[in-house]
Amino acid sequence: MDFYKSTVIYGLLVLSALFLSCSNKENKTDTIETRVNQLLDRMTLDEKIGQMTQIDPGFAGGEEQMKKSVRDGRYGSMLNLFGVEKVNELQKISVEESRLGIPLLIGRDVIHGYQTIFPIPLGMAASWNPEIVKKAFRISAIECSSQGIKWTFAPMVDITWDPRWGRIAEGCGEDPFLASSLSRAMVEGIQGESLTDPSAVAACAKHFVGYGFSEGGRDYSTTYISEPVLRNVVLKPFLAARDAGALTFMSGFNDLNGVPASGNEFTLKQILRKEWDFKGMVVSDWASVSEMISHGYCSNEKEAALKALKAGVDMEMSSLTYAGNIKALLQEGRIEQWVIDDAVRNILRVKYKLGLFENPYVSPEAQKQLLNPEFLDHAQKVARQSAVLLKNDQKTLPLSQKIRSVAVFGPLADSPRDQLGTWVFDGKAENSVTPLAAIRELLGPDKVNFIKGLQYSRDKNRGEFVKALALAKQSDAILYFGGEEWILSGEGQSRGEINLPGAQEELIAELARSGKPLVVIIMAGRPLAVGKVAGMADALLYGWHGGTMAGPALADLIFGKESPSGKLPVTFVKGSGQIPFYYYHNQTGRPASEGSWTPMDSIPVVNPQSSLGYKSFHLDYGFTPLYPFGYGLSYTTFKYSGLKLSSMSMSTTGSIVVSANITNTGEMDGDEIVQFYIRDRVGSITRPVKELKGFQRVSIPQGMQKEIQFTLNAKDLSFFNGKTQVVEPGEFDVWIGPNSAEGLHGEFNMH
Ligand code: BGC
Repeated sequence: MDFYKSTVIYGLLVLSALFLSCSNKENKTDTIETRVNQLLDRMTLDEKIGQMTQIDPGFAGGEEQMKKSVRDGRYGSMLNLFGVEKVNELQKISVEESRLGIPLLIGRDVIHGYQTIFPIPLGMAASWNPEIVKKAFRISAIECSSQGIKWTFAPMVDITWDPRWGRIAEGCGEDPFLASSLSRAMVEGIQGESLTDPSAVAACAKHFVGYGFSEGGRDYSTTYISEPVLRNVVLKPFLAARDAGALTFMSGFNDLNGVPASGNEFTLKQILRKEWDFKGMVVSDWASVSEMISHGYCSNEKEAALKALKAGVDMEMSSLTYAGNIKALLQEGRIEQWVIDDAVRNILRVKYKLGLFENPYVSPEAQKQLLNPEFLDHAQKVARQSAVLLKNDQKTLPLSQKIRSVAVFGPLADSPRDQLGTWVFDGKAENSVTPLAAIRELLGPDKVNFIKGLQYSRDKNRGEFVKALALAKQSDAILYFGGEEWILSGEGQSRGEINLPGAQEELIAELARSGKPLVVIIMAGRPLAVGKVAGMADALLYGWHGGTMAGPALADLIFGKESPSGKLPVTFVKGSGQIPFYYYHNQTGRPASEGSWTPMDSIPVVNPQSSLGYKSFHLDYGFTPLYPFGYGLSYTTFKYSGLKLSSMSMSTTGSIVVSANITNTGEMDGDEIVQFYIRDRVGSITRPVKELKGFQRVSIPQGMQKEIQFTLNAKDLSFFNGKTQVVEPGEFDVWIGPNSAEGLHGEFNMH
C-alpha cells in the first residue's frame, strides 16, 4: 500500500475512533480508576474472560475465526501480530465492531532491539552503562511502537549463576546490584517519559521468578532457591523494575521450591502484590498456566486456571484454560467474582495508561522510524562499550590502520544472522554489518585476506586448515572471529559443555603456528570456557553477539579508534565443572588461598590418606575462575590510589563516603568502570565474601586523575536473613577496584 493511501486510511480510522470515543458515555477527564470501574460495570462475564486471554494469531483458529473472536471480545491482547496494516485492521474490529470497543493490547518480544539490533542483553550489561542501555531500549520502543507493538516482553531480568543455561544471553548476568541498575534503565527506556506518548511501550519484567536457577542449566528445569537468596539476589532486579514503574510482570515457567511460578501465591501475591504493592498486570508465560498440569501440580485445565487465578495471574498467554474454565469455576463457587474483576481492572488500567482508548491505531508517519542512522550509531556505540578485552600481551592490540595486511578467519567473521544473537524476530540479517565487511571498509579490500577456515561454529571439517595457515603466514596479523552461532543460546538452547564448539580450538592452534600476532575475537551468547584459546592467543576480545553494528564496533576497537572498556557482568569459568561460580558466594569454613591447595597433577601416585589442603577448591580447577566478575582490560592503564573513608564508623541512621583516586597512567584516553564492593564480616546468617554496592563508568583522559566517591548508608548494608530485612551493626570491609578480585581495601564499623 502506498504512503498516501495508508495515510488516508489512518485518517479515517482516527476520525471513527474519535467519533466512537465521543459517543462513549464515559468522561475523558475522569481518573483512570473511575474509567476502569465504569467500563468494568458494563462488561459481561464473557467480555471479562476475553480481556484475560491473550492469543497468537497462529493459534486463533484461522483468519476468519480470529476476526470473529476479536469482534466478540474474546481476546484482550494478541502477541506476534505482524505489520501495521494487520494491527490496524484487527484493532479496528476490536474498537469499532466489538460491543464495548475495548482496544487490543499488541505484544511482542523485543528483547534487544526491533530492527536495529543491539548486543544481547548480557553484552549490554558488560557496558556497565545504564544511560546507553536506556537509550537502546528507547530506540527499540520507538521502532516497535511504529509497527503497532505497544507491549514488549522485556526486560528479562533473571539472575543466573549458570552459563550453560541458554537464556543467560537475555539477562544482565549474575549480580543483583548491576542487574537492578540496568533493569531500571531498561524499563525507563521502554516506557519513555510519558506513557501516552505514541512511542511509549509497556514493559514486562520477566520471568517472575527464579527461572534463571534452572537445575543443571537445563532450560525449564526445577528451581530451588532459599528465601535469603530469593530476596537478596533474585528478586532485586524485579523490585527495581517495579520501582521504575514497569506496567506488567510475567510469571515464569519454572517450578520454584515445589510450586510452579505461574501458580505461586507466595511470590505473586505475598511478595509482588502485598509487599511491593504492585498495581500493574501479570501475564503468564507462554502456556505456563496449562503446563502446571505437566508439572504434576494440577490434574486438569480447570485446576490450572484456578491456581493461576488465585495466585494473581491476570492474563493467560497462549493456553486457554481461563477461556474454558472461569465461568464454571465461578458457577461452582470455587472462585469469587472480585478475583476476576481485579484481574480485568489490572488489564484495563494498562490500556488506559497507554492511551490506547484515545489512540488505538498506528500512524503510517511513524513507520519512518526504522533503522535510522542515529539508531545505528547508537547500536555501534553500545556494541563498542560492551566488548571486553580479556588479554592483550605485548600490546598486540590495537593494530595500526597502516598495517600492510591482515588475515581474517573464523565462522563468525562474516555471519550476519549469528551476530544478531538470540530473540531476534524482526531484525534482518541483511542489515548486519559484519566484522569482515567493516574491516574491508576500513583498510581497503586489498589488505584483507579472508577464508573462513570453518564454515559455522560447530564445523569439524579441517579441509581448509592448510590453506588457512598459508594465508596466515602471508599476513602481518591474524584476526580470528569465532564463538557460537546464535542458535546455541537462547530459550531451550542450553549446553552441557561451554567450550568453543566444533574444531575452532584446533584451527586457532594451527593459526598460532604461523608465529604471527594472533587476535581472537569471540562472538557468543554466553560466557564460554575460553581458557585454552586465551593460552594460544596474543589478544582476546569478547564481543558477545553484538547486533546489527557488531562489525564496525569491533573494527573500531581492533584498530584503536577507541579503547575497549567493557567489564564482565558474569564470572568466566575454566570449565563446566566449576559451575556455579559467582563472586558473591557466602564465606565458607575453609576458604582456599594461594598455596593452601594441591593441584591434581602434584599428588603422588601412591599416597596415604593425607591432607591436600582440606580447603574449598577443585583438584583440577583450583579455587579461582578463569576471569573474575567485573574484569576487563583497556589499551590504557589505570592506577588506583588514596582510598579514603569519611569516617571509620557510622551509625545505623548515618552514612559514610568512600573515595579513591583513579589515574590514567597509559598512553591513550579511556573509560574505566570503577567498582565498589563491601563485605559484612559477621551476620545472623553467613554473608557473601564480597557484594557490589556501586559502580561508575568514568572517562579519564591520558595522564589525568579523577576522584571517585561512593556513598553508603545503612539501607545499602541491610539484607534479608529470611523474610525479614535487617540492618546489623558490626565490622565491614570495603574495596574500590577495577574488578571483584582486586582493589584498594579499607574497613569501618557500623554501630
Ligand atoms: C518465553 C517468554 C516470551 C514468550 C512470548 C516464551 O516462550 O519464555 O520469554 O516472552 O515466549 O514469546
